[in-house]
Amino acid sequence: MTAGASDGEQRPHPVGVDFGGSGIKAALVDPDAGAFVGERHRIETPVPATPERVASVVRDLLDRLEEDSHAPVGVTVPAVVKNGIVGSAANIDRGWIGVDANTLFSEALDRPVVVTNDADAAGFAEVRFGAAAGQSGLVIVATLGTGIGTALVYDGVLVPNAELGHLEIDGHEAESRAANSVREREGLSFGEWGERLTRYFGELERLFSPDLFVIGGGVSKHASQFLHLIEVETPLEPATLLNRAGIVGAALLAC
Ligand code: BGC
Repeated sequence: MTAGASDGEQRPHPVGVDFGGSGIKAALVDPDAGAFVGERHRIETPVPATPERVASVVRDLLDRLEEDSHAPVGVTVPAVVKNGIVGSAANIDRGWIGVDANTLFSEALDRPVVVTNDADAAGFAEVRFGAAAGQSGLVIVATLGTGIGTALVYDGVLVPNAELGHLEIDGHEAESRAANSVREREGLSFGEWGERLTRYFGELERLFSPDLFVIGGGVSKHASQFLHLIEVETPLEPATLLNRAGIVGAALLAC
């Protein structure tokens, strides 16, 4: 049990862990500030990134953090996660499908762990502390990386597992045309990529009438080079928590 603030003891800082394609990152988080407490630790993602190997890396990461063994832990997985069960594997090892990830990580870390979709965690953090802080109505956060992750947050409430990167547009899955990995692989200029992003965000706008789009993922640090090329009516903001978003969101959702 974590100590409550009311009994005068300090609550342990929650731990956030973000499982990405190239690295698995972890840090202690201050849930009132949405910031890291101390250093972020990173270990290369194992290849293949099977559930057991990822769980073992997460255990090693927690050994490196000076955390309280009662601290809540949240872990992201880049897949559908419903009640802790992984339901898809678009960009991860197929062995994840059907895995009870809450149990996998809880056993590896010897305490309850809350597992969340990576974009949901990042989106939730952006709405609480980042680019969409204070925004009412519908915020769609889209992370442009290996795939396209999306989070729907309405008046601060997360609607999990939106998976709008898999929307079929013009006969293609959106992420197979507009993810940042596709820009890199096909050597697209920002102008060419901007046209694909306009098509994608235009479709999201048509279907959802959001109040704000937030663009995340590693490429969002270059937002000044491409955000203005996305021609939609809805305001667009670059993510501000950058590579902290997944960790912060995972930790917040575990509290
Ligand atoms: C997955 C999502 C994930 C996104 C970003 C997609 O391919 O289906 O679950 O959030 O990639 O990692």
